[in-house]
Amino acid sequence: MSMYDLIIKNGTVATASDVFECDIAVRDGKIVQMGQNLVGAVREIDAAGKYVLPGGIDSHVHISQPSGEGIVMADDFESGSLSALFGGNTTVMPFCLQERGVPLRETLKDYHARAEGQCYVDVSFHLIICDPTDAVLGQDIPALVADGYSSLKVFMTYEDLRLDDAAILKTLDVARKTGATVMVHCENEDAIRFLVEKHELAGDVKPLAHAQTRPVAVEREATHRAISLAEIVGVPIVIVHISNGQAMDEVLRGRARGVRVLGETCPQYLMLTADDLDGMDWEGAKFVCSPPPRTKAEQQECWRGIETGVFDLFSSDHCPFRYDDPQGKLSPKGRSSFRHIPNGIPGVEVRQPILFSEGVMKGRIDLPRFVALTSTNHAKTYGLYPRKGTLSIGADADIAIWDPTEKRTIRHADLHDGSDYSPYEGIAVTGWPTTVILGGKVMVDNGKLTGKKGDGQYRPASTHPKTNCK
Ligand code: URP
Ligand code: ZN
Ligand code: ZN
Repeated sequence: MSMYDLIIKNGTVATASDVFECDIAVRDGKIVQMGQNLVGAVREIDAAGKYVLPGGIDSHVHISQPSGEGIVMADDFESGSLSALFGGNTTVMPFCLQERGVPLRETLKDYHARAEGQCYVDVSFHLIICDPTDAVLGQDIPALVADGYSSLKVFMTYEDLRLDDAAILKTLDVARKTGATVMVHCENEDAIRFLVEKHELAGDVKPLAHAQTRPVAVEREATHRAISLAEIVGVPIVIVHISNGQAMDEVLRGRARGVRVLGETCPQYLMLTADDLDGMDWEGAKFVCSPPPRTKAEQQECWRGIETGVFDLFSSDHCPFRYDDPQGKLSPKGRSSFRHIPNGIPGVEVRQPILFSEGVMKGRIDLPRFVALTSTNHAKTYGLYPRKGTLSIGADADIAIWDPTEKRTIRHADLHDGSDYSPYEGIAVTGWPTTVILGGKVMVDNGKLTGKKGDGQYRPASTHPKTNCK
């Protein structure tokens, strides 16, 4: 009888701290041995010439989320998690959006029902809090945090989601008491409204106006305010989807004052610009997301943040809508004004290949920094570490084997999400995760799907990051 279920041999292994040559042995879904010349497995994978990395964790994805009247998100848990898997991910963290007047637990039950038996990767949920009543803050959140829903997202923009400063302070205070982690979407809603009205009055309703009505100052001001509110309460905070250098500087200023601020950026802020929203006819709608992509100079600023440690997290903010669809970007209302175009773009499958190719292969970052940005720091920030996010004895055997020589051109036709386009169409990348292992099971074997729907499981998250990301 074999001692191990699987041995990955001869690969170059990388964690967030080290790169080394070793074999990895797996039994009952866990890593049980790491060393030289391991033998005695039912199956061996020869990873010579390949990188063996922790499976990616994308801690910012939207799947099956209600998105307004007549609008339907392009991914359910089956397609969204399949796309994540083929992009080298083994865990995703989607959001459960609170519904006004409905107990959070009921809404969560509904998300679980949609995810149950459908997933190709493991799943852990964040809660979006848009109606922090006394009962929600006093009873529901503390009970849910204890049950494994330990991260909350709050919005400073979107009429129907935004919290005012008083509500944000109260939510941060509950996080302080319970050990939850709060993610904040930082854009000043009143400033956006002011600019939107001006553009609409002038008859300027094309997709490009989405970027023009959400300028850098709107994000910088809200980022400063969110960090200040966290400072007042005395609680860590995650600033999500940072798009520019001025917001990054607010993160650094907060840290210099002693606030524990974590920063997240996304592929759209490295690869796209506002010019992409200026496409022929309504094609610019394909790139409408918030905050919007900015300038080439701001892309360089975001690279500075990747390289120098301003950013702890690199997530996709996968929020897919179909383009050529009355329930997507080209809804009748969406065609009437940029204001009604559903916000969000797909990206879960290409997040890691883009950072690997543009970051590691172009020498901007090393492999440990890549692993930290795409996996380890997500697990640490959101209570999944050390079970996930690293390669060590006792961790889940969630592993991606990367071929650093594989050259691909991103084509939506080759991707697995439910949208009908990729905002990254035509971008050439070098390096791809060709084999992906979830809990010891080979899910993608040299580019071919071998896992099945339902192999991905729900994973509750614990409170308080176990270790600092830095
Ligand atoms: O445009 C975006 N980012 N849509 C997704 C929702 C969010 O704010 O993260
Ligand atoms: Zn957001
Ligand atoms: Zn998002």
